[in-house]
Amino acid sequence: TKTIRPLLAGNWKMNGTRASLDQIKAIGDGVKTPLSDKIDTLLCPPATLLYVATALCDDSPLAIGAQDCHQQVSGPHTGDISAEMIADCFGTHVIVGHSERRRNHAESDMLVRAKAHAAHEAGLTAIICLGETAYEHNSGQTLDVLKRELASSVPDDSTAESTVIAYEPVWAIGSGLIPTRENIEEAHGFIRSELVERFGNGGAGMRILYGGSVSGANARDLLDIPNVNGLLVGGQSLKAVDFLAIYAAF
Ligand code: G3P
Repeated sequence: TKTIRPLLAGNWKMNGTRASLDQIKAIGDGVKTPLSDKIDTLLCPPATLLYVATALCDDSPLAIGAQDCHQQVSGPHTGDISAEMIADCFGTHVIVGHSERRRNHAESDMLVRAKAHAAHEAGLTAIICLGETAYEHNSGQTLDVLKRELASSVPDDSTAESTVIAYEPVWAIGSGLIPTRENIEEAHGFIRSELVERFGNGGAGMRILYGGSVSGANARDLLDIPNVNGLLVGGQSLKAVDFLAIYAAF
């Protein structure tokens, strides 16, 4: 099997002000260790901090990304930011299709696909989020949901370099609940087989992250699961001490 370089990514969501810049700096400094020769690290602060964060981390292996982008390059879209604007601030990645955006902003699979495509056009890596709700989980629909979301949210131009898939069961986000090892192995294995079927070698090399209630305490066990190629961390990415504990588990 192919060796895939792991990725540790943090998503600050709607958290962080200038007072949090010392945490970004501490994370940037904290990942300056030999481990960073083997894994990639990424932090996605709110857009207001993006430009200053990239400046603070320009001597660090820590990449900086955004949490969403518009599907168009520019235009009359009050409040939105484009993938080009993210790249202009030296951001290298953008999360698209997070379940909070799918739910709170009624983002469809097709819209997520357009956003991921826009990210690719701007030279960004798109981190495309998927995952089932509690209801879908409990009624045994997880793999059906993943199949649909993969087919509809992942654009045809996706490659192992330009695209990361993040499996985030909606019910595991911020809840302290985590699927069983068997469930995660099954979901990630299914995602892998769908990616290989559609993208061949590109799909074999694409990173599949797990997200949802990740912490320093469970990171090692999660990373041991086949086809878990990294982690997407919410709450435990806000403080450098917590995020660096997860980093140390890689
Ligand atoms: O995107 C990461 C996120 O949704 C997981 O959040 O707080 O459960 O780690 P959390």
